[in-house]
Amino acid sequence: MEYGGRRRVSPRMENTIRYVFDQGRHDEHERLAAMERLWDPGTRAVIDALGIQPGWHCLEIGAGRGSIARWLAETVGPEGEVLATDISTLHLDGLAAPNLEVRRHDILSDPLPSAHFDLVHARLVMEHLGRRSLERAVSAVRPGGWLVLEDHDWGGALTHPHDEQMRQVFDAVARFMSRAGYDAAYGRRLVHELERAGLDDVAADGRVRVYRGASPATTFLRLSLESMAASLIASDELAYEDLSWALATLDDPDSVFLTPMIAAWGRKPERGGGDRAPGRR
Ligand SMILES: C[S@@+](CC[C@H](N)C(=O)[O-])C[C@H]1O[C@@H](n2cnc3c(N)ncnc32)[C@H](O)[C@@H]1O
Repeated sequence: MEYGGRRRVSPRMENTIRYVFDQGRHDEHERLAAMERLWDPGTRAVIDALGIQPGWHCLEIGAGRGSIARWLAETVGPEGEVLATDISTLHLDGLAAPNLEVRRHDILSDPLPSAHFDLVHARLVMEHLGRRSLERAVSAVRPGGWLVLEDHDWGGALTHPHDEQMRQVFDAVARFMSRAGYDAAYGRRLVHELERAGLDDVAADGRVRVYRGASPATTFLRLSLESMAASLIASDELAYEDLSWALATLDDPDSVFLTPMIAAWGRKPERGGGDRAPGRR
């Protein structure tokens, strides 16, 4: 699959966009925890570098298991506030702080405060949901506030050895997920998407996690593959033998995997005013 190929989501397809993973699956909590272990330190560094301060109002979209929402609440302190949203709050049950609200919320359709937040962040969400979710996230940022998005780019996902064989598996998974609107090349598109949404000072950075098979870091990939295994096979995108081979390779300590994440950020122009005065800075 050519991840760099231009992909357009037609207006008709916009209505069929959906998140492919089942939040109710028995091991989803573990899959989300594995995601957090891989990516939280880098996420915190990106947001720290933007100058997050006590008193900021933050929105965490698609909060998952909530580690970043929890960290944001600690960082902005009692004068700040954090709204953590997710289409399913099943995995956010343990999250509680006086300045933190957990809300079941669909970013594609449910109402959001307009021009309110100093920081809006979403990790591994927009690659599933596309432009409408990004535009709704932008509308929630106050003038002068920041939008930070983080998404994978499978073009930089590599395996050693057996890269070609594993790429065929990833290609099949990407084709399957793209039926629901998923974009495996979203990471590289982020800069243009943020600029197109009218943000200023747009910039981006990338980080790559490198890990062995059978290590805790492979848990995310293994559980992701396992959770869609039945649908993948039924879709005819991937043969059972190829899926079994991929899972065995993920459990092989001699395999090495590279997984990339792109973080991009931009600031909402000050002109036009907003619904809320800027947070203390
Ligand atoms: C890949 S997980 C990422 C979780 C978390 N952001 C992280 O990086 O640890 C994507 C999250 O987006 C949520 N999600 C999917 N569709 C959504 C929607 N339409 N509105 C809000 N959240 C959604 C999922 O329930 C899931 O928790």
